[in-house]
Amino acid sequence: MHTERATPASGGGRRLCAGLALLAWATWVHGQQLPAQLTLSIPGDPRTTMAIAWTTPRAAPGILSYWREGEPARQSSATSQPLVHSGTRHTVVLRDLAPGSTYHYRIDASEAIFRTAPADASAAVTFVAMGDSRQDVGETDLERWAQVAGAAAQESFDVTLFSGDMVLAGFVPRWWDMWFAAGAPLLAKAPFMAAMGNHEMASPAFQRRMPTPGDATWYSFDYGPVHVSVVNTDPSLPVTISPGQFPAPLGPGSAQYSWLEADLSAVPGHMWKVVMLHRLPYSAAEHGDQQDVQALVPLFDSHHVDMVVSGHDHGYQRFLPMAAGAVVPAGTWGTTYVVAAGAGAPLYDVNSADPRLASAAKAFNYVLIHADSTCMTIEAKDAMTGQILDQAVVGVAPQPRPNDLPACATTGG
Ligand SMILES: [Fe+2]
Repeated sequence: MHTERATPASGGGRRLCAGLALLAWATWVHGQQLPAQLTLSIPGDPRTTMAIAWTTPRAAPGILSYWREGEPARQSSATSQPLVHSGTRHTVVLRDLAPGSTYHYRIDASEAIFRTAPADASAAVTFVAMGDSRQDVGETDLERWAQVAGAAAQESFDVTLFSGDMVLAGFVPRWWDMWFAAGAPLLAKAPFMAAMGNHEMASPAFQRRMPTPGDATWYSFDYGPVHVSVVNTDPSLPVTISPGQFPAPLGPGSAQYSWLEADLSAVPGHMWKVVMLHRLPYSAAEHGDQQDVQALVPLFDSHHVDMVVSGHDHGYQRFLPMAAGAVVPAGTWGTTYVVAAGAGAPLYDVNSADPRLASAAKAFNYVLIHADSTCMTIEAKDAMTGQILDQAVVGVAPQPRPNDLPACATTGG
């Protein structure tokens, strides 16, 4: 896999400059030339909507044509806005699409595809989950993020779930340029849905480049048999990594607590419930349990959230099913907490002796989540070697529950 975006050229004649500029503002993915910073995201109902965004060096109109096979092409004009010093961002939101369909689209000379979510809520779907791609202090590239994104992009999946800390500091535009370039194969392959982390520093930079449902930093969507709720654990400044000093208002009465309570209450009983957030209620690594985030645990318990996917503590951890802050007895219902925080940030040691842990690895990783109407399973992979780190059945069959373990095998058979 080869992905690159050259830096803008300077000097030379007009024709040479024009040629170099064209090369500078293209992304190469698997030998295919695509617009720079091309990204897919879900701005609403994933069965019928898709957002496509890209960046050009100049403020030219952004035009996208799209079609389903056998149907005539339609054209849509982008909403365009200047970025701080990296060109113009174009965003097209397509609506009234057909569910479960493959669409082709063309931007200038580039052509690619996307797929809408299935109409059938019992259809099998796959997510790839990961988080923490940020560079370390003093690093000037995102090479490890490029490697993880490139490896994950080789997998077959429908949506990326990214649990935050994309860049070292969210208010630095250049780092976003680097991040979008390094993650190109993943960002262009399938809708990329993110939670905000503490390193985004409440900057609106990410939302300026990628639409989310309601343009919010906490939101939810249904995809096949899975309801995904995304929480923003770090919605405001100042940001500090000192325990107990995060300003995130997540307890009862807070905006997000009330929203999540209503959101989870409305999920039909036959759907899996997955919550994604950045900072984590439980961890056996560097940062440890985050007490302010534990304010949400009563909601996870009372609404039988099947899995909580988080980032922040760089590496991989899966906890034994838990309820009310403790591991539940075998055979009883509990939420599975997974830390998938290995998308490139420097790795932390994990205390594998923590009795709450079912599996842990100090490894760059991503996690495949497979779900259909009866089973949800996860498969964690080392992003650098392809080695399978962990496999597990998550949650219980949606009906009946609790205390009814699923009759399904892990994805490895
Ligand atoms: Fe973090």
